[in-house]
Amino acid sequence: MGKVWTIVSGKGGVGKSTIAVMLGLVAAENSGSVLLIDGDIGSRSLDILLNMEDKIVYDMGDFFAGRCDLGQAIYSCDCTSELYLMTAGQSTKISNFEITHAQKLIKSLKERYDMVIIDCPSGLGKAVEVFAKCGDEIIIVATPDPVSIRYAEKAASFLWNQYQLSANLLFNKVINSKKIKDKFPAIARFMDLKYLGMIPNLQRLYEQAVETGHIVACVQEEPLHTTVQRILAGLQGSETLQTCGRFFQNFLNRLRREKHYG
Ligand SMILES: Nc1ncnc2c1ncn2[C@@H]1O[C@H](COP(=O)(O)OP(=O)(O)OP(=O)(O)O)[C@@H](O)[C@H]1O
Ligand SMILES: [Mg+2]
Repeated sequence: MGKVWTIVSGKGGVGKSTIAVMLGLVAAENSGSVLLIDGDIGSRSLDILLNMEDKIVYDMGDFFAGRCDLGQAIYSCDCTSELYLMTAGQSTKISNFEITHAQKLIKSLKERYDMVIIDCPSGLGKAVEVFAKCGDEIIIVATPDPVSIRYAEKAASFLWNQYQLSANLLFNKVINSKKIKDKFPAIARFMDLKYLGMIPNLQRLYEQAVETGHIVACVQEEPLHTTVQRILAGLQGSETLQTCGRFFQNFLNRLRREKHYG
């Protein structure tokens, strides 16, 4: 039986789709078969990031509507033999997105693939709730700025309060500042999340995304490849606890006092 990892965020544009592709590519090298699900209904992007945009004909919405069988909605990626992609649907209506159908489908996909990685839309909504509930692990992605951290906390509180789902925290687009990086484990601890690691702000990655649309080659390069391997290992590993700096401690305490979320 495979595992399902669901990638969410509070704030948009923090790098969820990019990270889904990174994890998928690296996991498919060593950890068996990996299915990436682009769960961003109406705004898919994984096909572009994987250089597969001309391939996609059917999606999850077509499968639910009976327009294709499951195999037709799943595409193998040319870049590596063990990586597959299914998109949730460009025209799928969220009102037609039945939780029972999605849960049943993902349960059956767990039996076929060693790993299912679901890239969610930003924020909280029906699709995110459905996919989060299917996840064996939930990864909340945040950038290191306080606005993104506040929204990550909101997402974490919601998932816990509504469904008692705990999650991992992964920082992305991290600038090379030791002062900031040292705070991450403690920020995660304050949010009751497991700290998963960080991915630097990579000019090269951004340039490749802008120039070609796809990022496959960039993920194979060092030091990014090793960073992603470490994050994959951390999904089954243990958290590191550290003392939080005063700025973030005050910030998070204020968040808790305000109680305007969840
Ligand atoms: N580590 C990184 N370094 C530099 N640029 C990055 C990094 N991660 C992502 N980006 C860039 O940030 C932008 C947003 O990334 P992405 O689309 O993956 O975010 P997202 O969270 O999936 O967005 P949305 O909320 O719209 O789904 C893209 O241009 C991407 O290339
Ligand atoms: Mg995205």
